[in-house]
Formats: sequence, structure tokens, C-alpha cells
Amino acid sequence: MNILARSRIAGPDYDRRIVIAGAIAGGAILLALIQGLAGGAAGRSSGSGFWLTLHLLSVIPALPVGAYVLLRRKGDKAHRTAGRIWGGLMMVAALSSFGLPGGLGLIHGLSVLVLVMIPRGILQARRGNIAAHRRTMSLTYLSLAVAGMFTLLPGRLLGSWLFG
Ligand code: HEM
Repeated sequence: MNILARSRIAGPDYDRRIVIAGAIAGGAILLALIQGLAGGAAGRSSGSGFWLTLHLLSVIPALPVGAYVLLRRKGDKAHRTAGRIWGGLMMVAALSSFGLPGGLGLIHGLSVLVLVMIPRGILQARRGNIAAHRRTMSLTYLSLAVAGMFTLLPGRLLGSWLFG
């Protein structure tokens, strides 16, 4: 049994579970967006603007692109291409969060973490430490899915679009 098969946070079963979490978050986020756009709340929102649009345009595609990378075979050209796109989207998600209105909050800690984790994950792959690379990227995807779910809480923008 190799090191990947033994690791609980860097195996196919773990990846499948976090992709399911990402799919649930993504479905609810899409519903919230449809509600917000159809009901006009998105247009009226004081938080809407360049940084929010950039944030949403990075986090929403990051969910399926990241799922694709986690679920398919690893190491080939398609893995590297999709992985680079996903890493880029995550960096934009984290950077754009600093432009959102409302000043710095606790969740910006996650943004800093992502800004560290993506370059770290790339370095690990370049150095051939594949188990660590896989763990880093899986955890970063999980943080995306969890952050997505938290945006649906009452009082947050997407939560108010979804639940009124
Ligand atoms: C699918 C995933 C995500 C969605 C749909 C999403 C959406 C949003 C939205 C709509 C806001 C505006 C504030 C509010 O909700 O009331 C926001 C704020 C924010 N997001 Fe995200 N986001 C996601 C993932 C992430 C990730 C991965 C990071 C970090 C890298 C991040 C960092 C932040 C930060 C720091 C804020 C400001 C929080 C605050 O209100 O103090 N988000 N996000």
C-alpha cells in the first residue's frame, strides 16, 4: 500500500466526498444567484461592484474546475492545464476578497491561507512530493466548498438572495 492510499486526506474517496460538498455548495449558490438576479436583489445590492463580480467569477468556476482536477487521472497534460486554471482562479478569489466592501474580517485569514497554499502546492509538485501536493490541493478545495456554504448563511449576501 503506498503513502497516498494510506493517507485519509489525500485519496480518491476523500476527494469524492469533498467534490460532493462542492457540488452541494455550487448548486445552492447558483440557486441564490438565479433568485438574486430574477428578483432584482442583485441589482439593488450595495455590495455589488467590480470586486464582488470578480470574486464570484473566480469562485464559481473554481468549484467545477477543481472537481474535474480532483476526480480525473493525475499527472498528464490535462491535469496540469486544468490545475493551473484552478490555481489561478483561487488566487483571484483570494486577492479579490481584499477589495470587497466592509474592511478586513476573519474570513480574510482564509484568503491569506489560500495565497500561501496554492504556491506551496505547486512547489510540492515541482519537487516531486506528490502526496503533499495532493493533500495541499485537496484541503484548499475543501476550504473553497466550505467558504461557499458559509456564504449562504442568513445575514450574508447570497444567503439573503436565497432565503429572502
Ligand atoms: C464558492 C465559494 C465562494 C463564494 C460563492 C463566495 C462569495 C462571497 C460573497 C458573495 C461575498 C460578499 C460578502 C457576503 O457574503 O455577505 C464574499 C466575501 C468574502 N469572501 Fe468569498 N466566496 C467564496 C469563496 C471564498 C474563498 C475561497 C475565499 C478565500 C480565499 C473567500 C474570501 C472572502 C472574504 C475574505 C470575504 C469578505 C468577508 C466579509 O464579509 O468579511 N471567499 N464571498
